Amino acid sequence: MSEKEKPKAVVVGGSIAGVSCAHALISAGWDVVVLEKSCSPNTGSPTGAGLGLDPLAQTLIESWLQQPELLHNSTLPLTVDLNQATDSEKKVSWTLARDENFNFRAALWADLHGLLFNALPSNIFFWGHLFLSFCVSDDKTSVKVKAKVLQTDETIEIVGNLLVAADGSLSSIRQSFFSDFKLRYSGYCAWRGVFDFSGNENSETVMGIRRAYPELGKCLYFDLGSGTHTVLYELQNKRFNWIWYVNQPEPKLQRNSATMKVSREMVQQMLQNAEKVWVPELVRVMKETEDPFLNFIYDSDPLEQIFWDNAVLVGDAAHPTTPHGLRSTNMSVLDAAVLGKCLAKWGAENLQSALREYQSIRLPVVSKQVLHARKMGRIKQGLVLPDRDPFDPKSARLEDFQELRQKNMPFFDYVPLLLL
Ligand SMILES: Cc1cc2nc3c(=O)[nH]c(=O)nc-3n(C[C@H](O)[C@H](O)[C@H](O)COP(=O)(O)OP(=O)(O)OC[C@H]3O[C@@H](n4cnc5c(N)ncnc54)[C@H](O)[C@@H]3O)c2cc1C
Ligand SMILES: *[C@@H]1O[C@H](CO)[C@@H](O)[C@H](O)[C@H]1NC(C)=O
Ligand SMILES: *[C@@H]1O[C@H](CO)[C@@H](O)[C@H](O)[C@H]1NC(C)=O
Repeated sequence: MSEKEKPKAVVVGGSIAGVSCAHALISAGWDVVVLEKSCSPNTGSPTGAGLGLDPLAQTLIESWLQQPELLHNSTLPLTVDLNQATDSEKKVSWTLARDENFNFRAALWADLHGLLFNALPSNIFFWGHLFLSFCVSDDKTSVKVKAKVLQTDETIEIVGNLLVAADGSLSSIRQSFFSDFKLRYSGYCAWRGVFDFSGNENSETVMGIRRAYPELGKCLYFDLGSGTHTVLYELQNKRFNWIWYVNQPEPKLQRNSATMKVSREMVQQMLQNAEKVWVPELVRVMKETEDPFLNFIYDSDPLEQIFWDNAVLVGDAAHPTTPHGLRSTNMSVLDAAVLGKCLAKWGAENLQSALREYQSIRLPVVSKQVLHARKMGRIKQGLVLPDRDPFDPKSARLEDFQELRQKNMPFFDYVPLLLL
């Protein structure tokens, strides 16, 4: 195809799903522009923390990088998936379920985003561009997108053949197809933080946490208390990532975000509560973490449809999910890869067939995974579920423990034929 004939995709959202789509579509022979409302790469983002990558997502990301080993170099292995119970009175922990050969890797959001972004041609990415609206031509072969340039307040129009909505769980493009769509609150929020110990590797805090959690550096730790749980793992470059899930009523969402600004008082209160529940070594890491932040956890029932004419949803826009399957990033990367393969297979002239195949491959998988992640969150938080008593690590039985393993995720290591 000559340069002139290349079909063009307008991707809205430049987070993990957006940059992954840019790679996959360029590989499929498309021209791509990415519109992102943030004004610059979010390297120091306060809301960026750790995430897990499964083996397939790792392979796909490596295929998009000019220097594939950069992914390996900027992540740490998660080879053990370990669920432990914590007795909050005695402050002791014991193993509930343990899986070896887990084969995930842990990345910092900003590191992963940086890797993917830096491997893209620089002229395709439009920072500081807020998507406003789109309209599809009568013959459904083109789509006109309006965006506001935040620095100058001017409105621009971009015309393409395909609109890719990678605008996250609060997607405004999805809202134009499901006007009464609402996210579903999970019943809990997540306190999160990244503890940076570079230069302090031998401090009491670091030695203490390594004694209490000797497999840090290769293990994904879940600690289960009564009606609450934490996640702890190590990241590349001397950092620990921690998450503490706390049951509480739904907040009034601030503006358009599920991340909440926290006051000093809220942090102090959180730390006091942590002392009552978790082992002191973990509490100490929480206390010494700069700027912990708070995410309210939402998901949604699976959508019936994720494409219309020449608009398609990917990533969190297509399937908002709770984080308990460690899959939201993996899902975004896979969405992008499958979309790219479908477009390459059918060609731009058969866009409908390409998008239909994308939907038929991805929708059944992500729908099951979102519902499974929801169930796992409710179990680990001791919340009510149909047909069972709320889970309590102190009274649970062996078969309940087995259920906690990440490997129970539907389609755990299924690879779509198209990607083989
Ligand atoms: C700054 C940041 C930090 C994150 N940190 C973590 C983390 O530490 N751990 C983790 O597991 N997950 C994290 N996530 C979420 C994770 O990236 C996603 O859950 C997952 O990878 C799917 O991503 P997504 O690209 O579909 O959605 P998102 O990551 O939510 O990205 C949506 C993007 O669309 C942009 N956007 C939305 N509306 C518009 C509009 N109207 N015009 C233009 N752009 C728009 C947003 O600015 C955002 O960049 C983070 C997301 C962000 C944005
Ligand atoms: C990755 O790490 C290895 C070992 O430390 C190093 O030799 C290699 O140069 C690194 N690769 C890149 C691209 O940075
Ligand atoms: C990653 O998740 C997708 C679903 O989003 C799934 O199809 C795939 O098998 C997963 N990969 C691995 C290696 O588990």
